Amino acid sequence: MIALGSGGAVKRAFQICVFALAISLFAGAAPRRQKLITFPADFKWGAASSAQQFEGNNNANDYHQWEVKGLIQQPAGIADDFYHRYDSDFALAQSLSHNAFRLSIEWSRIEPVQGQFSAVELEHYRKVLESARAHGLQTFVTLHHFTNPVWAANQGGWSNASMVQWFAEYVAYVVPKLGDLADYWLTINEPNVNVLTSYVAGVTPPGKQDINLAATALANFLKAHAAAYHIIHKSFPRARVGFAHHMRVFEGYAWWNPLDALLADFIDKFWNHQLLDAIKSGRIHLYIPFVISHDENWPELKDTLDFIGVNYYTRDQIQFDLNSPEKFNILVKAGAPVSDMGWEIYPHGIYLSVMTAASYGWPVIITENGLADAADKQRAKFMCDHLTELGNAMEDGADVRGYLAWALLDNWEWINGFGPRFGLVEVDYATLNRYVRPSAQVYTQIIQSGSLAACE
Ligand code: BGC
Repeated sequence: MIALGSGGAVKRAFQICVFALAISLFAGAAPRRQKLITFPADFKWGAASSAQQFEGNNNANDYHQWEVKGLIQQPAGIADDFYHRYDSDFALAQSLSHNAFRLSIEWSRIEPVQGQFSAVELEHYRKVLESARAHGLQTFVTLHHFTNPVWAANQGGWSNASMVQWFAEYVAYVVPKLGDLADYWLTINEPNVNVLTSYVAGVTPPGKQDINLAATALANFLKAHAAAYHIIHKSFPRARVGFAHHMRVFEGYAWWNPLDALLADFIDKFWNHQLLDAIKSGRIHLYIPFVISHDENWPELKDTLDFIGVNYYTRDQIQFDLNSPEKFNILVKAGAPVSDMGWEIYPHGIYLSVMTAASYGWPVIITENGLADAADKQRAKFMCDHLTELGNAMEDGADVRGYLAWALLDNWEWINGFGPRFGLVEVDYATLNRYVRPSAQVYTQIIQSGSLAACE
């Protein structure tokens, strides 16, 4: 028994405090494991794709325009020839026990010339979606995954306010004709990444480096999302509409440097929160001190999500650096596990991202998660660890409805071409033959058991 006030008691209390601190530090460092989680029976399990990266021969969009100009490392060309092989690819997904598949509609196929819509291409996508359904796959249909028709890009693309109307016209054409085959809609894929690479870093079309254009484009994406949400719900009141939000974890590089932490916090607010805040409130307030300030009310944006799609890959360490043009560097800590692309493998980040997304009150679906791993040495553990963290988020109250791996097949990457291997299924680009990787079989066991027993 501890007698208050005695010297021994103080010493003992001190020891208890140190012990408790050690335990809490340890607990913080090592996220808890919860291997026996059981995922709900109606959980969506599957993989994702996008038109430009899978279909092949998308020759009427801005990426192709860049390829023709020699601005892209390796042209997408025929890609995985998914345009013709979708049926056997869906059979493959079905054989792996997937029950869902994410694909995108290529706007430049549907509307290759402004105002001229292709009934033939629309019919093609009907067949694709019918085939997915016939193979037991619920469909996640993305309406915009990075590419734009050349005619739209030539008029300024997303920095032109008219893009919102143009996108709405395309959506209004597509939705009534495909809506009966779409189980979930994703209006736009990763507006933040799209704007970063296209209007800040300038490494994807239109290759601008202009922060004002970037803010305008981001606001236009939000307005386009709102327009699409209402168009879809007008035709299909019970539709489930979301967008795919790229979420990352940002951390100060040096624990002792408050400037690193402060910057990481600004970037986190901007990157992870501000699009969600805008959709929750109907106020588009894009703000980074001294960099971006865009403030506008857009009431029709308010509450335009039925679920939030979370794309999660990695964590960034932020280092304040007066000598760099951006005044900070993005680093990976020495010794951290990384993928073939050098991205840190940080499973706890999916927990943090999902908890953030869920805190807005929307159901969450993981619409992309994966890594480049040509040797397939890390993928099974990557999935097990990320799904463990996802289970932890669910246990902590997040309403998570599904998990789609990026990607079903190896595919063409926007900047790096065919080098990175993200597929559960390997593609031999010489023959286009598909080979199921061992990690895909682990994923199948997880799906079949609804548990992580296969990860033991
Ligand atoms: C994109 C995918 C891409 C993946 C890996 C995501 O940001 O939506 O299209 O392939 O990252 O780079």
